[in-house]
Amino acid sequence: MQDNSNDDNKVTLSTLRQMKATQQPIAALTAYDACFARIIDQAGADLVLVGDSLGMVIQAHSTTAKVTMDDMIYHCRCVSPSLSRAYFVADMPFASYSSVAAGVDNAKLLIAEGGAQMVKLEIISPTTINVIRALTEHAIPVCAHIGFCPQTIPDLPSPDTFHRPKVVDEVVLQQANDCIDANVDLLLVECAAEHVGEQIKTMSQTPVIGIGSGSDYDGQIMVMHDVLGISDHSPKFAVNFLATENSISAAFSAYVKAVKSRTFP
Ligand code: KIV
Repeated sequence: MQDNSNDDNKVTLSTLRQMKATQQPIAALTAYDACFARIIDQAGADLVLVGDSLGMVIQAHSTTAKVTMDDMIYHCRCVSPSLSRAYFVADMPFASYSSVAAGVDNAKLLIAEGGAQMVKLEIISPTTINVIRALTEHAIPVCAHIGFCPQTIPDLPSPDTFHRPKVVDEVVLQQANDCIDANVDLLLVECAAEHVGEQIKTMSQTPVIGIGSGSDYDGQIMVMHDVLGISDHSPKFAVNFLATENSISAAFSAYVKAVKSRTFP
C-alpha cells in the first residue's frame, strides 16, 4: 500500500511499519468525539480508532450490531479534525461489508466522508477475505480484526468469556494467515491465547496490535472508556488508569506510557 502523507509529525502506515521493525510499541485508543480525540492525540497515542464499540459506550446498546454507516461517518467527522498526529482508523459496521461491492463502496465513504486513513473489518466469513483483497486492490488501507469478533456473536454477553484456547488458537492462526495472504496492512487480535500473539507477530511483516490477548504484540489498543474506568461493563483485561491519575489527560498519557514501556498489559 502506498503511503502519501507529507507531514513529518503525522503517524503514517510507514511509521507504524517502522515502529514494528524497530520494536517500538504502538499505543492505540478508541475515540468517538472531537474533545476526547484531541486529548488522546495530545497524550501521544499513535493510532485512534472510531470503533463500532460506540454502539455500546455511546449509544447504550448491548452489542455493536445496531451501529450504521451513518453513525460511523458522523463520529469519524467529529474525530478527524482533532487528530494532528495519530493515525486514524474507522470500523466498518455490522453488515456494511457483506459483499465485496458493498465493502468497497462503504470503505470509500468512511475515507472520503469520514476522513479515515484506514478501515477495520472483522473476519466474519470467507467473503471478508475477498473484501480485504478488493480493498487493497483499490489502494484502501485495511486492518483485519481477528480472534474474538463481536459482530459474529451479536448476543454474546461479554468478551472475557471467550477463552477456549485449543479451538481459538487454530482459528486465530488461520485467520491471521488468510489476512496476511490477502495483503492486509494491520492486524488487530482480540482475546486470543497469550502465546498466539508471538506466533502471529513473528509470521507477519504487518504490525499486529492486541487487546485482551497478552503482551506479545507490536502494540496494544483499548476502548477509551475502559482506560477511564467509566464503562458499564468493562472486560476483565481492562485497567482503570484514571484510578491512579488526577486527570483524564494524565490517565491517557499513563496508558500510552505503559504500552510504550511494555508495563501494560
Ligand atoms: O470497536 C472497537 O472499539 C474495537 C476494539 C477492539 C478496540 O474494535
